[in-house]
This record gives sequence, structure tokens and C-alpha cells, in this order.
Amino acid sequence: MSPLDWTSAPAVPLRGELQVPGDKSISHRAVMLAALAEGTSHITGFLEGEDTIATARAFAQMGVRVEAPGASARVVHGVGLHGLRAAPGPIDCGNAGTGMRLLAGLLAGQTFDSTLIGDESLSRRPMRRVIEPLEKMGAGVEAETGGLPPLHIRGGHELAGIDYTLPVASAQVKSAILLAGLYARGTTAVHEPHPTRAYTESMLRAFGWPIEFGQGWARLSGGHVLHATDVAVPADFSSAAFFIVAASIVPDSHLILRDVGVNPRRTGLLSALRLMGANIEAKNERSIGVESVADLVVRHAPLHGIEVPVEIVPDMIDEFPILFVAAASARGGTRISGAAELRVKESDRIAVMARGLRALGIRIEEAPDGAVIEGGTFTGAEVDSAGDHRCAMSFAVAGARARGEVRIAGCANVATSFPGFIELANRAGFALSCS
Ligand code: S3P
Repeated sequence: MSPLDWTSAPAVPLRGELQVPGDKSISHRAVMLAALAEGTSHITGFLEGEDTIATARAFAQMGVRVEAPGASARVVHGVGLHGLRAAPGPIDCGNAGTGMRLLAGLLAGQTFDSTLIGDESLSRRPMRRVIEPLEKMGAGVEAETGGLPPLHIRGGHELAGIDYTLPVASAQVKSAILLAGLYARGTTAVHEPHPTRAYTESMLRAFGWPIEFGQGWARLSGGHVLHATDVAVPADFSSAAFFIVAASIVPDSHLILRDVGVNPRRTGLLSALRLMGANIEAKNERSIGVESVADLVVRHAPLHGIEVPVEIVPDMIDEFPILFVAAASARGGTRISGAAELRVKESDRIAVMARGLRALGIRIEEAPDGAVIEGGTFTGAEVDSAGDHRCAMSFAVAGARARGEVRIAGCANVATSFPGFIELANRAGFALSCS
């Protein structure tokens, strides 16, 4: 756990080259598929975060040998699709919605019962969205009142493929259905209201499972085999996002972020920031495995407010807390809409960011599905991240550009996605300390 409270004081110009840790979404999936594969898979660039470590621990509890030969490396000795055994007790997914929802799909196809639990934040997150399609496939899943965790997943249910249209764009729900589909009789097809990250699909293909997919749809059938393969995990765009915005708003900054995953389903923030006048170049774009990475060169630039195009919302769904900070430092107003999902993330991110930015002297009006933010100047103040890792790091970036110190409560969960954030930030020019 990283210490609970941080103080972020005005930064010097942010300079130099950084590499942020590995992608969280890809790290979760790499462990899951490697565990179910035949043979040994090597994962490099694995995120050493609490969320992904919890997923690796879950498979270890189910009999999978997972070795950590070095930092950010995992060797997973796959047990095959039917080789898992019951965990000795409840599986703790920690803070990770991805861990719990994807595991729910995968465990629905086992012969044994499982219980999935999570921390206080995860225990408030909606699970009906995965339970409903899984029940349609024949799974036995019970939740607490209101469809909340813990989830009790009954084994030994025969699953059948479904053709399912997701009511909300969610890569987690899509992935849960596809992972259950590995165990289902017949074909499982998923359609999305808007395309979301297709990491599960591309990784299933890399592990040799026949799958067809395109923008907003995927289809596979059960009864095949996953073959071990090596996975190189790119640096997480969502972690790079804090530095992209920080370098954009702190005068005289010039920062280079190396090897960042630039999958278009993740980089909506680049489009939004460029519309706001940001100076960000993607250089040296290349492939690692099936993913594209680039070096992002970010220079300070004056930003102006925009209306965020609703069609890019799913492509930047994790980047709204930091976009709120960019908007609050811009000239004029920024309108965000079509982002109601932010209310059911690790926290209610609209409410948490609105409260924090108001304390920092910013005018912001909340809407059920977004906000209108009037650019201004951050004063020093105390804010509360409500235990949300991305809100905590966003307030730290606000502190870098503030007139006084920003004290941020509830920062321990930064370790779920970005171990070493304080050290890396201070190396770039932040003045961030913890207590
Ligand atoms: C994720 C999907 C998104 C995202 C989350 C990671 C994934 O969640 O917010 O951080 O790895 O599939 P939703 O599926 O709820 O949109």
C-alpha cells in the first residue's frame, strides 16, 4: 500500500523521458489466458499493481503455477481449459472491476463453485450487467441485493452460446461473455453499442483460439484449445495520461513518454486534448506483439475549452478525471456529456472530481452524464480522492499547476494501477510527497 495522503506542490517544468508501468487491461487478460492455455507462457511488461497481482494470485489459488522471475515478468504454467481446481476460499479481486467481471465469466464454465469478493469500492459496483448475460448462457451466479458483490458462481452448469447485444459499451462485460463462451456449446456472439477495447479478442486469437471480430462485434465457439504464447505488455496509456496532461499544462514542459500503448480504443484523450490545442506528437510507432506502441512527445501549450465529442467517450472512459483537470486549466468552458458510466467506476468520478475541483477554486456544474467545467486557476486546498486511484493522480497533476499546495486524502489505491507514481512524477519535476 502506498501512504494514504499526498501533498502536491507547484512543479518545475516537466522534462525528460519516462516509461510508465505496463497496461492493466492487458496484464489481467495475459494471466487469465496463459493460465487456461496448454504450456508455458512468458509475460513481460506485466503491471506490478495490486489489481493485476490479485488476478495472478486468484489463479495460483486455483492451482496454476505463476512464477515471477523478475520485476514485471511472469511465467505462467498453463493448466489447460479444464485444469483449474476450486480455490480453497473466496477469491479476493481487490479493487479490480476487470478482475471480478472477467473471472465471473471464466468461472461460470467450471465444474466447481467459486466466490468472488472485493474491497469496499468494488463491493459497490454493479455486477448485474455480467450476471444477466451469463444467466442467459445457463450459468448459476448469485449476488447480494442490488446485484452487488460478493458473487457466488455455481459450477457444473452447462453453458450454451448466446447472441447478445450489450446495453452499455463495456469491454469487461463483453470479455466476461466471451470467456464464458470458451466453455459454451455452440456460438457466442456479442454486439456493442459502441466499439470498446478488443484485447480479449486479439489475445484469444494470439493464444490460437478461433475467433472472428470487428468494430463493435465478436463471435467465437466453444470446444477449442488455448496454446501458450508469450505476451509483451505495452506501457499503459491510462497511466501515461497523467503525464500527458501535466506536461501540457505546466509551462515550459517537454516530456517524452516511451513505449506507450496507442490502441485507438484507448487514446480518445489524445483527440480531446488536440482539439483543446495540446502539442502531442506520436513518434516511432511500431508493433509489440499484436499491439501498437509509440513514444509520445508532449510540450506545454495553452489549452482552450471544447465540447467533448460523445463518440470518443468510450475511447477515453478511464481518462475523464484527468481530462477534468485539463479542462479546469483551459481558457473557457468544456462540456462533457454521454459519460454516465463515470458514476459507477472505482468511485462516482463526476461527483468526486466536481467536489475536488470546486475546493480548488474551479467553477463546475455536474450533470447526470457529465459536467460543464469553466477553466480557471487552481488554489491550494484539501481534496478527497475517495479512494479512487485515477482521481488521486489527477488531483496531484492539479497540484503541479496550482498556486499553493494541494493536499489529497485517500491515495493508497494508486498502487492498484500505478506503483511508483510518486517517484516517477518527482523525477519529471513534480513536488509530490506523502504522509
Ligand atoms: C476495462 C474496461 C473498462 C475500463 C476499465 C478496464 C477492461 O471498463 O473502464 O478500467 O480492462 O476491460 P468497462 O467495461 O466497465 O467500461
